[in-house]
Amino acid sequence: MSGFLSSSIGKKLIMSISGLFLILFLVVHLTVNLLLLLGSEAYNTAAHFMGTNPLITSIQPILALGFLVHIVYAFILTAVNAKARPVKYEQVSQSHSSSLVSRQMLPLGLALLLFLVLHMIHFFVKLKVTGEAPMIVMEDGVEMHNTYLLVGSLFQMPLYAIMYIFAAIFLAMHLSHGFWSAFQTIGWSNEVWRGRLTWVGYAVAGLFGFGYAIVPLYFLIFQPITL
Ligand code: HEM
Repeated sequence: MSGFLSSSIGKKLIMSISGLFLILFLVVHLTVNLLLLLGSEAYNTAAHFMGTNPLITSIQPILALGFLVHIVYAFILTAVNAKARPVKYEQVSQSHSSSLVSRQMLPLGLALLLFLVLHMIHFFVKLKVTGEAPMIVMEDGVEMHNTYLLVGSLFQMPLYAIMYIFAAIFLAMHLSHGFWSAFQTIGWSNEVWRGRLTWVGYAVAGLFGFGYAIVPLYFLIFQPITL
């Protein structure tokens, strides 16, 4: 088993499974994000539930491990591929077999990693570490973080809204290759499904890109928060 996991295909399998796990996280995260469009009560209640429900918070370390494994194996696989291919990609014809995005998966991933670090500083650290995020008392007397205000006031600043829109575009590009490639690696693809999965991948990537970009755009354009 350990021999298989350290083989090239084993490493690719680890990348694919961790990538698909992260996509599941992105679905949940996007669903909660879209509640921002419904107003503060809906979003704050959902964010409070996600941040305090023991079942969900107990998954956090697994999520962190998922990111770590995906990132570490991205570097390992890139190094292995570079060793196996002494002639640099740029020196051979790039027109066939690999798309532009497929050759930029590592830089795109690194841009997302940089975004993730800034993203944690914007929200996670303020909510969970320093506790400097604003609080709100709901009508039923329950006290919780006003995450709506925290997110909305950040996105009313053009620099941050644009940064998050770019992150959404990079995420969409990363997924446009990663999605079908993951299914290919785990063997759930054949001659017929390869073509279909490519298009499903584009649709998934488009939905994620649009979904993650619409929230900063909404706050930037409509400025629903009066500070
Ligand atoms: C409109 C875009 C986004 C908004 C408004 C947003 C908002 C938030 C907020 C408020 C939190 C803190 C939740 C809490 O700890 O209570 C959070 C956590 C997080 N976000 Fe985002 N996010 C966005 C996009 C993204 C993207 C594109 C990614 C991944 C590429 C991402 C990955 C994460 C991760 C890994 C966490 C930590 C999860 C945890 O609490 O365990 N987010 N996000």
